[in-house]
Amino acid sequence: MRTASLTIDPAFSVAPVHRHTFGSFVEHLGRCVYTGIYEPDHATADEDGFRKDVLELTRELGVSLVRYPGGNFVSGYRWEDGVGPVEQRPRRLDLAWHSLETNEFGLGEFVRWAGKAAVEPLMAVNLGTRGVQEAVDLLEYSNVASGTRLAELRRSHGADAPFGFRAWCLGNEMDGPWQIGHKTAREYGRLAAETARAMRMVQPDLELVACGSSSSSMPTFGNWEREVLQECYDLVDHISCHAYYEETDGDVASFLASAVDMDHFVDSVTATADAVGAALHSRKRINISFDEWNVWYQTRFNSAEPPRDWPFAPRLLEDVYSVTDAVVVGGLLISLLRHSDRVALACQAQLVNVIGPIMTEPGGTAWRQTIFHPFALTSRLAAGEVLRVETTAPEMETARFGPVTIVDAAATYDVGLGRLALFLVNRSVDGPVEVSVDLRSVNPEAVAESVSLYDADRHAANTADQPDRVVPKHNDSVRLDGGRATVTLPPISWTAVEFVTR
Ligand code: AHR
Repeated sequence: MRTASLTIDPAFSVAPVHRHTFGSFVEHLGRCVYTGIYEPDHATADEDGFRKDVLELTRELGVSLVRYPGGNFVSGYRWEDGVGPVEQRPRRLDLAWHSLETNEFGLGEFVRWAGKAAVEPLMAVNLGTRGVQEAVDLLEYSNVASGTRLAELRRSHGADAPFGFRAWCLGNEMDGPWQIGHKTAREYGRLAAETARAMRMVQPDLELVACGSSSSSMPTFGNWEREVLQECYDLVDHISCHAYYEETDGDVASFLASAVDMDHFVDSVTATADAVGAALHSRKRINISFDEWNVWYQTRFNSAEPPRDWPFAPRLLEDVYSVTDAVVVGGLLISLLRHSDRVALACQAQLVNVIGPIMTEPGGTAWRQTIFHPFALTSRLAAGEVLRVETTAPEMETARFGPVTIVDAAATYDVGLGRLALFLVNRSVDGPVEVSVDLRSVNPEAVAESVSLYDADRHAANTADQPDRVVPKHNDSVRLDGGRATVTLPPISWTAVEFVTR
C-alpha cells in the first residue's frame, strides 16, 4: 500500500477557524426559495410557511451565514417588491433565470427564516439595474431603528426592531457578460466605491464585499481585481471569488484535484489585492469573500431547452451529486480552511435544490445529498486554530495541474476543548493510502470520531428513494501509538478524524 506522512504542530498556526467559512446561499432561482425553504402547503410548514424539515437539515448542516437574494437574480431585483402586505406584492419577470417571481417571499420572510435557521444574513444589493440610492434605501429600511420614512415603513410592516445586517455584497458578478448591467472594471469599481461611501455614511461599521471575478478563467481575471480595487480599496473589506468545478471529459484526476485551483485562485487574488494596497500606501488589508463555490455540472443546465414561458419555481440546476463530487467538496473545504488567514467568509452555492446539499420534493420529503456530509462534519468538527499541515505524499499526474499529491489535509486544534480535528482526502483512483500523522506536540490521548466518505461505485448518489445510499462510514483503521496516528484512506475518499488531546 502507498504511504504518506503528515506533521502537525500548534506552533504553526494559520489563523482562527472562522465560523463564516461555513456559509451558504439562498437565491430566488428555481426551487431554492419556493418549494425549497418556503412551501406554505407542505405538511411540515410552520406558521410562516417555512418547511421545518428543511430548517432542521439547515441547522444540522452547520450553516453560519446565508447570502441572499442572489446571485444573478439580484441584478434585476427591486427589494421593495418583497415587503409589505403579501397580497399587494407585484408579480414580476425574473430576467436572470427566465422565471416568474411572485414576491410572496421577500426581505421580512428571509429575516424570519434566517432567525429560525440561526444564520446571519449576507445581503446583496442590486448594482445591475439600480445604484447608490436604492442600496442606501434598502439599508435605511433594514438597519435604521426608527424616525425616518423607510425605518417607519419597516415598522409598519410589523418589524419593530431593525434587522441589523452587517455584511453586504455590492452587486454580483459584474464582470460577467451574462449579468444584467454588466460593467467594465473601472465602471463597476467606481459604482462600488460610491455605493460603499454612501452606505458607510448611514452605518460606518458595515462589512462590504466588492465583486471580484466570477471565475479564475474569465479573460479579465487579475486585471478586474486590480482595477476594481484601485477604485474602492479603502471603502470595502473583501473582494469576492466565485468558483465551480465539474468533471469534464472523464478527467477524474483533475476533478479530484480541484482544490489546487482554489488554492491558486485565493493566492493570486490576495497577491493582487496586496499589490494594490501597497501602491496606494494603504494600511488596510483586503480579504476574500469566497461567496460562491461548489461542484456544478453547468453543461446540464446550458444544454437544456430554453423555456418558452415564464414558469414559477421551475426545476433549474438540480444537480444530483455523486460520492466523487462529495470528495471534491470535502477537498474544497480543506482549501478554504487552509486559507483562513485570508478567506474571511465563504458560501457554498446553494442551500436547497439548486446545486444544493439539501434536496426536496414539492409536497414530499427532504434529504441530504452526498455533498451534505463533508460540509456538516467539517462545520461541526473544525474549532480553535487552523494549523499548518506538512505533507509528504506520492504524486499523481493530472492533465490540468500537472503532478499533485494524492493526499491533501487540513487540521484544526482547540486547546481549550482538548480536540484536534484532521480532514483528509485521498484523490487517487488507484488504491488506498496509509497516512501516518505526527501529533506528538499535541499529546493525543484517544480517537473521538473517525469517518470516511467513499463507495465502491464512485457514481453512487442519494435520491428521494434512496436518501441514505451514501453516508459517512466509521473508519476503523485509525491507530494511535506514542503520539503518532495512522489511518488508511480508501481510494477517492474524504475522511475526518477527531482526537482527544491532553
Ligand atoms: O449559483 C448560481 C449562479 O452562479 C449565481 O446566480 C451566479 O452568481 C453564478 O454565476
